Amino acid sequence: HDDLVVLGIETSCDDTAAAIVRGNGEILSQVVSSQADLLARYGGVAPKMAEEAHSQVIDQVVQEALDKSGLTGRDLSAVAVTIGPGLSLCLRVGVQKARRVAGSFNLPIISVHHMEAHALVARLIEKELQFPFMALLISGGHNLLVLAHDLGQYTQLGTTIDDAIGEAFDKTAKWLGLDMRKSGGPAVEQIAQEGDAESVRFSIPMKQHKDCNFSFAGLKTQVRLAIASKNIEAKVPISCASSQDRSSRADIAASFQRVAVLHLEERCERAIEWALKIEPSIKHLVVSGGVASNQYVRARLDRVVKKYSLQLVCPPPKLCTDNGVMIAWTGIENFRVGRYDPPPPANDPEDFM
Ligand code: KG4
Ligand code: ZN
Repeated sequence: HDDLVVLGIETSCDDTAAAIVRGNGEILSQVVSSQADLLARYGGVAPKMAEEAHSQVIDQVVQEALDKSGLTGRDLSAVAVTIGPGLSLCLRVGVQKARRVAGSFNLPIISVHHMEAHALVARLIEKELQFPFMALLISGGHNLLVLAHDLGQYTQLGTTIDDAIGEAFDKTAKWLGLDMRKSGGPAVEQIAQEGDAESVRFSIPMKQHKDCNFSFAGLKTQVRLAIASKNIEAKVPISCASSQDRSSRADIAASFQRVAVLHLEERCERAIEWALKIEPSIKHLVVSGGVASNQYVRARLDRVVKKYSLQLVCPPPKLCTDNGVMIAWTGIENFRVGRYDPPPPANDPEDFM
């Protein structure tokens, strides 16, 4: 199985991504085309617009992944593609492309769950990572705590009852007038370094709920109120703000980040204690999804796992945010155990584009 070569395609949200990965975990190529510019201009994902953006670049992204790997469609063993969760219009662009490639070269198709891929990519980078393990998946649309018993066997320990943490980072960035050319999370992380994280007293969400669920809507509201009470001119971009105004924004960013992450820490502690009772052999907590590229998040969660003598596994930032490698890799894991669909009806290898 080490000589498998799988193409992974991801179009569930606002990134069009493709990658080619070998069965031994070697990444032969990876390409991501981001709609960040569109997002910044329109202030959010509009499904129809996102679909068009995917359609425009999908052929090019897949071709570039092949070119960079030095392979052609004939060298592939299978095509893996995200089938959900995500925007259905967007998912369809990826699925149709996968079917065209697979039909052209008579390749099996592997359907991949986006969140499973965020978790399993950790096994590509950390070869010691065996089942069972725990995973905290934190991104723009999802917030999950899961116990991974085995491939395809997961117990959900917690999810968000409203927004995901990435959404809270994005809104905080927007309201603070931060530079949104990238997504909001990195902008908040950066300005937070200048701020005093104890200066604004946000309350920790769901303190009274002794479960492992998350909530970020209330914290978002607290941030909005704090911004209003400090007379911050969010319409003025941070690069033009006075130094007083800049430091108020930094204080809010730092305080928000601290409390948002305290919420994660608390939920993780409870989930670990619970999970260790069912699966005492757990040795790892995987933290993945876009927000896991945040260094403060990593440092704080590292302290949590050490209390329980566990190891933190965080993929590198490029593999935490949406990417094709995680889809190809999850395809490989499933292919190995026979979970794939036969090739779709053949089409001419010349017109798989
Ligand atoms: O996993 P991902 O790329 O896409 C989804 O599946 O949603 O996650 C995107 C989210 C965005 O909300 C973005 O602001 C957040 O991840 N993010 C961060 C950082 N980098 C990306 N949040 C906090 N700090 C970061 N450094
Ligand atoms: Zn994602």
